[in-house]
Amino acid sequence: MKILVVGGGGREHAIAWRLSKDPVKHEIFCAPGNAGTAAIAKNIPLHAENIDGIVAWSVEEQPDLVVVGPEAPLVSGLVDALEAEGIKAFGPVAAGARMEGSKLFAKEVMKAAGVPTGRAEAFTDPEKAKAALPGFGLPVVIKADGLAAGKGVVVAETLEEAETAIDDMLVANKFGDAGAEVLVEEFLDGEECSILALVDGETAVLLPSSQDHKRIFDGDKGPNTGGMGAYSPAPVVTDSMLPYIRDRIILPVVQELAKRGIKYRGILYAGLMVTPEGGRIAKSGSRVNVVEFNARFGDPETEAVLPRLGGDFSKALMNAATGCLASGDVVVRPEMSATVIIASGGYPGAYLKSKPITGLDAAAAKGAVVFHCGTKVENGGVVTSGGRVLSVTGLGATLREAVDTAYAGVSEIAFEKAYYRKDIAHRAFGRN
Ligand code: AMP
Ligand code: GLY
Repeated sequence: MKILVVGGGGREHAIAWRLSKDPVKHEIFCAPGNAGTAAIAKNIPLHAENIDGIVAWSVEEQPDLVVVGPEAPLVSGLVDALEAEGIKAFGPVAAGARMEGSKLFAKEVMKAAGVPTGRAEAFTDPEKAKAALPGFGLPVVIKADGLAAGKGVVVAETLEEAETAIDDMLVANKFGDAGAEVLVEEFLDGEECSILALVDGETAVLLPSSQDHKRIFDGDKGPNTGGMGAYSPAPVVTDSMLPYIRDRIILPVVQELAKRGIKYRGILYAGLMVTPEGGRIAKSGSRVNVVEFNARFGDPETEAVLPRLGGDFSKALMNAATGCLASGDVVVRPEMSATVIIASGGYPGAYLKSKPITGLDAAAAKGAVVFHCGTKVENGGVVTSGGRVLSVTGLGATLREAVDTAYAGVSEIAFEKAYYRKDIAHRAFGRN
């Protein structure tokens, strides 16, 4: 198949890499890709948000499938635009991508579909939002409605913090239009995990569970990031929870959207909170609640989950994109996986760029798979070009082996001010 992967991060490198391992050989393109995808695909100098450019390229080149990685082009209607030209695309249409693009819309769909999630109320008036706070107790969660680059959520421990967050969003317009409406939401107690579901408009097949590490420092301390590592499977998701997640969370959303005339195809990513025995049960009465939905593969979850898939990945993506997904399309290999993000020092704040990277081949020789997140080729060498630079994945018969392989790879890699967490998968190890 001729396949275009849209995006240029670790997620897109992992998608292209997994496609390159298929039993059938593909011709793979990435727009714009990075130094890692350049080794297995042809990079096209088109930004992921250049909808017109990507559509024009696709009309000219006629790929069999376009796989869209990031949320921004999905929300802006890239899939709608491609389909209008008769080009098959993996990812939801803009109306479906609102599940990620608008937290209010997602809440409303969940309510209509009876999906367990935190109780929430929407406000445009700051005083009314503040007046509602006592009814939610503490902590309480304040969320900007729209896309805010992962920064639009404040878990407030005190009323003052909650009021400041409301003022930041509704009065100071800190997030612009994305914060013109806020949700005040019930705090959910427990451990988070990620479920990526392949969806074809009607049916869904769950990919293996995973867990992200959102905070910058070990022990889940410090500011939130795009994700500093992940592992799969996540033991907080027990086998007995999987049918519940599919039948009570994923499928009802897909059906509710279908009822509204929205055929949701692509990945529906559920960020879930699992409340432990003895934890505070949410108003929904369920121990498993939706924290958020995303309309795409997670990053770095994808770098941990895709290496665990066997079979023909292109077929799974194509069948989801064309409405004929079958459970046999997803083949899970027995190995477990872990991925460690190497970031530029200073991230998620300001950081340096264009620093030469060494040790990539040595890391691969240790058995790790190195996905590039923020790299480019400069003067014939690979240099840093983003906050999250590399995602180093290990596979193993046990999670310990997977983690050890990932860190063996990480130890070979160097660039100025490289930083990574040393405790990836700590929650899984802490359980036994
Ligand atoms: P979101 O952008 O919705 O994923 O939120 C970012 C992070 O804030 C989540 O990954 C959670 O760690 C936290 N969070 C969001 N909503 C809640 C909630 N209702 N209860 C507890 N934590 C939450
Ligand atoms: N890893 C979190 C996300 O992709 O949104």
